[in-house]
Amino acid sequence: MARLRLGVLISGRGSNLQALVDAARAPDYPAEVALVISNEAGAAGLARAEVAGIPARLISHRQPGFEAMIDAALSDAGIGLVCLAGFMRVLSAAFVRRWHGRLINIHPSLLPAFPGLDTHRRALAAGAKATGCTVHFVSDAVDAGPIIAQSEVPVLPGDDEASLAARVLAAEHRLYPRVVRLIAEGRVHVDGDRVEIR
Ligand code: GRF
Repeated sequence: MARLRLGVLISGRGSNLQALVDAARAPDYPAEVALVISNEAGAAGLARAEVAGIPARLISHRQPGFEAMIDAALSDAGIGLVCLAGFMRVLSAAFVRRWHGRLINIHPSLLPAFPGLDTHRRALAAGAKATGCTVHFVSDAVDAGPIIAQSEVPVLPGDDEASLAARVLAAEHRLYPRVVRLIAEGRVHVDGDRVEIR
């Protein structure tokens, strides 16, 4: 069966992109990274795409028609699922509508706790005993939309932002490829605000 073609949108390091690329090396993985788009020229993820031999585009948010260019690049590449992976721009309601049900994000907290930035610092400040990561469909509110899957990690005594971020990131790298597989296998069904995995 044809593999689901992923378009991965990044702004920086690209370690979640790498996790998807690595997962797709398995012959039985039902998806492949077909296109990488970065809005930042210096994104380390662009180099990862090059090493992996994956087409990559730099589309700066500073140029007019930024979103239309992303949309066209994704459509031209026959992308079936758009994965935001550390993409630091908020997409317009029109874009979100256009890719409805085909646009997912990974966020480093257990949503709805700690949307937005600095999630680990805020989790530590709140005295949370657990945190983690969430993969969700994108809606027009930031870090909101039907939750597909979450992975919990403990907050340990002595944790600082760096140690907690590293633990959560390792969980992200396991979770994102798992969720993409579920979607590619047609097992993810959205019912209003809820997602059912069958
Ligand atoms: C990850 O923590 C992700 O959850 C958040 O941004 C970070 C991106 O890291 N949205 P990377 O670029 O995938 O390494």
